[in-house]
Amino acid sequence: MAKPLAYWHVEALGFTVEAYKGMETGHPGIASYLLGSGNIRLVLTSAYPTLLRQKEDEILHFIHNYYAGVKRIVLRTQNVQQVFAEALVKGAIPVRFPVKQEDENGMIEQAAIRLYDHAEIVFLDREHYNGVFLPGYTSPTPVQKDAGPLFTDIDHIASELRMNEISFWTNYLQSAIGTRLIQQITRSADNKTGLLLNINQLPGKTLTMVMAEPESAEARSKVQQNIDNYGPGIHHLAFDTDDILSTVKALKEHHVELVNFPPSYYELLRADPGLSGFDINELEKNGILLDKEGDSYLLQKFIKPFGDRPFFIYEIVQRINGYNGFALKNINVLKKAEEMELMRMATELN
Ligand SMILES: [Fe+2]
Repeated sequence: MAKPLAYWHVEALGFTVEAYKGMETGHPGIASYLLGSGNIRLVLTSAYPTLLRQKEDEILHFIHNYYAGVKRIVLRTQNVQQVFAEALVKGAIPVRFPVKQEDENGMIEQAAIRLYDHAEIVFLDREHYNGVFLPGYTSPTPVQKDAGPLFTDIDHIASELRMNEISFWTNYLQSAIGTRLIQQITRSADNKTGLLLNINQLPGKTLTMVMAEPESAEARSKVQQNIDNYGPGIHHLAFDTDDILSTVKALKEHHVELVNFPPSYYELLRADPGLSGFDINELEKNGILLDKEGDSYLLQKFIKPFGDRPFFIYEIVQRINGYNGFALKNINVLKKAEEMELMRMATELN
């Protein structure tokens, strides 16, 4: 189902198909679409059984177990062998040792290490490749688009993990690829979120990994429910935009299903004198979250799951004046808003 999903990304989210690999290009059993929006590159891959049964088994296995999600996070490097060897010395779990691939457009090299139960971090060198993307891919017929991309970059990749996993994977990424722990929510009396959270980032912010785990087994948090129902792993990708209001309006015109928040949340925003510069009515109308640090701001919006399996989603983020955080306060504000809504419902029932 990569084809209809690629169509949805193009028509609903404004992505462009930049390269394609499949039966028509000599690769039966696999269909891969490279999609672009600003600096974001997503590869959607699907597979179907063929008599040849070459590489599709691994993809079919992933789809069977997880339906749609992130299998590979790809980091560009010009020295795959060295980066991979150093990662292994520091404790990374190997998945694929460095391998080169060549065609008439040049050469690429890649290797992969394990991430979580079923994901991978790939080190890819395509500096010496002049083709459209990777060997096997061709350019599709260009489609004239009347509007520019809606998103600029990948802001962060967020995961929901089991109890006691986030410190393991935080240390793992620190050793294997050199991320730093830049923010966290730890166990404390003030933490009413039911979550523990670690935010890990590569220098230069080229990769930000947000990891959440349930604070306790008893709390029955949303994270624990998701893990019970769908297993742990990468839960959402957040895309940056320069203008979240226009982006959300465009998505609404494309009939994209979006997550909204209770009126109490916006009552709490209106009560905050530090946010008087914002048109809270407009934010409420478009279901946008707002957080503040000094004179910098974060605006957030969530797209509902694009498939029937309600686990993997996209988030949209706009950072104003270099807002550096991840709206950790918002989790508590939303909790409070939820409580206010419950109180209101209880009062109405009485
Ligand atoms: Fe997020």
